[in-house]
Amino acid sequence: MTAPASSDTLMEDIVGLCKRRGFIFQSSEIYGGYNGFYDYGPLGVELRNNIKQAWWRDFVQCRDDMEGLDSTIIMHPKIWQASGHVDGFSDPMVDCKESKLRYRADQLFFAPVSVDGETIGYVSVVECIDQQEVAEKAAAEMKRKMAKQGDLDPIVLKEYTEAKPEQYLLIPSPATGKPGSLTKPREFKLMFETKVGPLADDSATAYLRPETAQGIFANYKNIVDTGRVKIPFGIAQIGKAFRNEITPRNFIFRSREFEQMEIEYFIAPNADWKALHREWIDTCTDWLVSIGLPRAGITEDIHPEDKLAFYSQATTDLMFQFPHGEQELWGIACRSDYDLKQHQEHSGKSMTIFDETAKEKYVPHVIEPSLGVDRTLLAVLSAAYTEDEVPNDKGKVEKRVLLKFSPKIAPVKAAIFPLLKNKPELVEAAKKLYKKLQRRWNVFYDASGAIGRRYRRQDEIGTPFGITIDFDTIEKDGTFTLRDRDTCEQRRVTEDELVKFLEEQIGG
Ligand code: GAP
Repeated sequence: MTAPASSDTLMEDIVGLCKRRGFIFQSSEIYGGYNGFYDYGPLGVELRNNIKQAWWRDFVQCRDDMEGLDSTIIMHPKIWQASGHVDGFSDPMVDCKESKLRYRADQLFFAPVSVDGETIGYVSVVECIDQQEVAEKAAAEMKRKMAKQGDLDPIVLKEYTEAKPEQYLLIPSPATGKPGSLTKPREFKLMFETKVGPLADDSATAYLRPETAQGIFANYKNIVDTGRVKIPFGIAQIGKAFRNEITPRNFIFRSREFEQMEIEYFIAPNADWKALHREWIDTCTDWLVSIGLPRAGITEDIHPEDKLAFYSQATTDLMFQFPHGEQELWGIACRSDYDLKQHQEHSGKSMTIFDETAKEKYVPHVIEPSLGVDRTLLAVLSAAYTEDEVPNDKGKVEKRVLLKFSPKIAPVKAAIFPLLKNKPELVEAAKKLYKKLQRRWNVFYDASGAIGRRYRRQDEIGTPFGITIDFDTIEKDGTFTLRDRDTCEQRRVTEDELVKFLEEQIGG
């Protein structure tokens, strides 16, 4: 029997496993941690690299219409003025004057509590998977405490950004439960500032990039001039991005330092951008499935026109069922020619391209699939986390935790075990195979403990295959036992069969 953990505890289970087994640690943990920053341990960095490599291989190396780029994190501040980020990249923030806690106003919800049409107060709730239920309970409690007779009217939650000025003093702070301490929403700039050069005045102000995209736009001319690109074509980049998020939360889902995998796909202004947008949405969905996410867990969220980002003509987000609810994983936006035109105007450099087929010169439009590495990693962990029951060495059924990673992205591809550690001939044969496989894949050698316990340790970190060297290997036919992580089934294979099988399953 196999079952994913319940969503209530799934995030806690994942966070616990990530720390226990060395995937992800809180940054600066020895100093009490640093909110919104995470470090990746030995297994985390392998998983992360595998996700990035799969993306790079599939979207850059395997396509004839894509070029790669690695631009700097700190760029000329004028880039962020031209892109609109200096003036427009902010989130609405609200402070609780009493508790000193801060909230994002678009993640804080409120509703009037009315009994038979008479408003008796307000409830507030911070965005969460069961916010409606939490708000309804709070409303029922308010009615009970005030000993009001009659029926509660339905609770209709609204974003705090929609509150009217006369409501600010009536809405309770989620921190204290009392009204009167919340400020009105004000814009909070998300870009981290730093100083570049010896002067510390305003002229030295620079920014840590909040998206890798602008590095692509800033290099578009270089790539057009030096490459052999033909419209349509894309430029892809993987790199760190930084945002001073007001409320970083849900583990690595929303952090202040994260990594993005972004593509700017340049198309003719008269191209059928809606059809191309659709094509990118499908390609991106298929890629998520190829790294092991269940297709049924991925949905599309089409942004309504009045909620589009300042640069966007149309945006569809690929949403994923994370442990804390259905949330954005991959944003796929049609950015028109907004960015290139802005840079053309601010830099004075032409951003036109000559289209050989159409025999005309123009500033191209762009489709932008933008994916977070950390968010993908959390999605992969959530989809892979499984608890089931299997018999131990003595045949007794025990609970097991396993990560069902696709072999393509699993941090460790196979574990090699000598059946007994005190038999030199088994150890020698196992180490020989280990050294051979290590040249091609990240494999692990483990000789300590009962074989069942060794399997369990690998199951928990998602190693898809276990290879055991026993007496038949050295005394009879040279075959190994190959064990499948998910089914626990075992079969005997020769070395050639093993390598061929691993090649097929892992690739590379
Ligand atoms: N260039 C467009 C852009 O940056 P975005 O929707 O703000 O668009 C794109 O970000 C993707 O980057 C998101 O879909 C998400 O996967 C990831 N991302 C954004 N902010 C993040 C954060 N604070 N922490 C982790 N990932 C984030």
